[in-house]
Amino acid sequence: MVASGRGSTIRRQEHHESDSDRPEISRRAALVALALPVLSGCLSVLPYDVKVSDGALLVPREMADTLRGPTDVLELRAEGRSFYLRRLPDGSFSALSSLCTHRSCQIGAEADGYVCPCHGSRYDLTGRVVDGPAERPLPRYQVDTTSAGLRIIAG
Ligand code: FES
Repeated sequence: MVASGRGSTIRRQEHHESDSDRPEISRRAALVALALPVLSGCLSVLPYDVKVSDGALLVPREMADTLRGPTDVLELRAEGRSFYLRRLPDGSFSALSSLCTHRSCQIGAEADGYVCPCHGSRYDLTGRVVDGPAERPLPRYQVDTTSAGLRIIAG
């Protein structure tokens, strides 16, 4: 009786560890990993290193033209700093620091604003605080349009 019980336990363990189960678990884990940003509301934003000239970030026209609406967001990196750039519903551009004003965590971009993963502060598309604990808005930078693209005055 005891031997038979052990045998069935071993068979169950062998079944759980069989090769046919492993790919399914991996596929499931991969799907969860891919879906997590969508389920959490965060947009998938790729960072770009941009050049700086006379204190302004230079965003080439081809890159700026990819911003067609508020859900298109660029993360710009230059000189150890990071910024979010997106087009607002009125057609203007918004360039904001990507660091939370509470304790400087890197915030994430969402369709209707930004959220901080550290303590949950939320900001609207223009960087105003919607929910604390942050009390100050995100620093916002002037965006000038030129024939070559955009200049963000990040001084
Ligand atoms: S660092 Fe962002 S909410 Fe605390």
